[in-house]
Amino acid sequence: MQLTDEERSMLQDNQGEGVRKAMEIVVALGTIYGADDLVPVSHVQVSGVSYKNLGDAGLEFLREWAAQGARVRVPTTLNPAGMDLRHWRELGFPADFAAQQQAVLDAFTAMGIEATCTCTPYLVGYAPKLGDHIAWGESSAISFANSVLGARTNREGGPGALAAAIVGRTARYGLHLDENRAPTHLVDVRCPVRSSSDWSALGYLVGKRVANGVPYLRGLDAAACDVTNLKALGAAMAASGAVALYHIEGVTPESNIKYQISNTKEVSLESLDEGYAALNTSDSNSIDLVWIGCPHASLEEIEQIADRLDGKRARSTLWITAAHQVRDEAESRGLLARIEAAGGRIVSDTCLVVAPVEALGFRSMATNSGKGAFYGPSHAHVATHFGSLEQCLDTAIRGEWAAGKSR
Ligand code: F3S
Repeated sequence: MQLTDEERSMLQDNQGEGVRKAMEIVVALGTIYGADDLVPVSHVQVSGVSYKNLGDAGLEFLREWAAQGARVRVPTTLNPAGMDLRHWRELGFPADFAAQQQAVLDAFTAMGIEATCTCTPYLVGYAPKLGDHIAWGESSAISFANSVLGARTNREGGPGALAAAIVGRTARYGLHLDENRAPTHLVDVRCPVRSSSDWSALGYLVGKRVANGVPYLRGLDAAACDVTNLKALGAAMAASGAVALYHIEGVTPESNIKYQISNTKEVSLESLDEGYAALNTSDSNSIDLVWIGCPHASLEEIEQIADRLDGKRARSTLWITAAHQVRDEAESRGLLARIEAAGGRIVSDTCLVVAPVEALGFRSMATNSGKGAFYGPSHAHVATHFGSLEQCLDTAIRGEWAAGKSR
């Protein structure tokens, strides 16, 4: 692999142990994937932030790296942590978990990383531009950045993204190269796609059909392709099929590029029923938690929820997860007060999948998120119902799954 003098200097320990270790990781990944050289990145999103997943070994690894002088060279933000950083006590997070989670964040911030703790950095001031090379490690955000914003990132793992932040570069392979951004599958959507849960169910099905590929979707209503629906679509597709880039005809920025397409497979989707059935897996109507905001909710979604909850009262615990900046904005606009008056909470910095769910006592959940429903049973060990926003909010008010409610 070709390295510049500066890159070789980082590899030869001239800039400290922490930098050398980071460059070794970046070069090793590039070698594995056949990269010719490295490419500068303008932003990094680091995943693998929850103490629930890192444990003591992960915490020690981060502390050691920080102590070796590792500091990020480009703006770098964090994925959700295992708790709401400001409100963990009142939400019932255990104090010993909170102490360890805070230690993880201290190690990250010592390296110069901003503790945004959201999977939607593009909603809080970190939206890359068309053609920007970035190194992101959050599957739903990767999908949004590549597909909707036209930036370029591979699916980085936690250490790989952190290493890229420390050296300010990543290996040029995969989705950093034009040829790998061409569609592999033409997907004709022949059924109505209306609610955000429909977009999630569609994403789940596309991911299943085109796993690891690049789908080109036709037949979707361009007017419905808003941020809420596209983040739901991409998150579900990334969960069910590790899809990191999709195109939508006439909508996404690279959909009009004339790629050299060969061997493109054709897929036709006539109904979303299979997606709903696969994601809606609980056989009990009991619900401990209704969870909205996967990926983290935008202000527009929060406003929509506040409107639907006015004058009502939730019987189940109702969490709307969002970036703390979005929560603060919701508070200043009076939306938080309206949601809390209905018994709901806007929970920041975390989500159900990375929180210590057992300690919080949740055993069953309803969500409008395809990604949330995909990982709920396996990662959070909760019996999971999946349905529309309306159905989920109705469930929160009834205190049990609103089974008969149309999606
Ligand atoms: Fe974000 Fe957690 Fe969903 S990281 S995409 S809210 S599983």
